[in-house]
Amino acid sequence: MDKVQQVPKPDLKQIEGIIASCKDQKWPLIPLLQRIQEEVGYIPPETINPIARAFGLFPSQVQGVITFYEQFYTTPRGRKVVRVCRGTACHVRGGKTILKLVKQNLGLEEGETSPDLEYTLETVACIGVCALAPNIVIGKETHGNMNPKKVSQLLGDKKGSG
Ligand code: FES
Repeated sequence: MDKVQQVPKPDLKQIEGIIASCKDQKWPLIPLLQRIQEEVGYIPPETINPIARAFGLFPSQVQGVITFYEQFYTTPRGRKVVRVCRGTACHVRGGKTILKLVKQNLGLEEGETSPDLEYTLETVACIGVCALAPNIVIGKETHGNMNPKKVSQLLGDKKGSG
């Protein structure tokens, strides 16, 4: 269940500008989608038709690329994405408790985004730093050797934000 509420409408003028700035590139579609996501936070479904028109593609072709690459999201995500590792090494070293505490602090379940679009909570299979288990990633920063005290230092009580 998604907690996102009152999602602001995407600024289509801004998106048209991004499309225009990528038109002269040789293989523009993926860099264009990356740029839209970087600037808007996700790929609003309303952008698929203008993109297809600009590059002479079918909307289904644009949609196909968005669906194919896991890096693209078509729903808004939080400014900070918190990923809790569910891999084996993290699991045996208390990852389940860490996930529970992160959920409590953020007031979110997996896959949910806070109403103020500040946080999205996800889990991942393994982030490749098993020696530091249990691990979480906040944005681009990895935090290893997590324990309940570190969870509350990093995330405090964010419940009810927004
Ligand atoms: S299992 Fe968590 S980092 Fe590898």
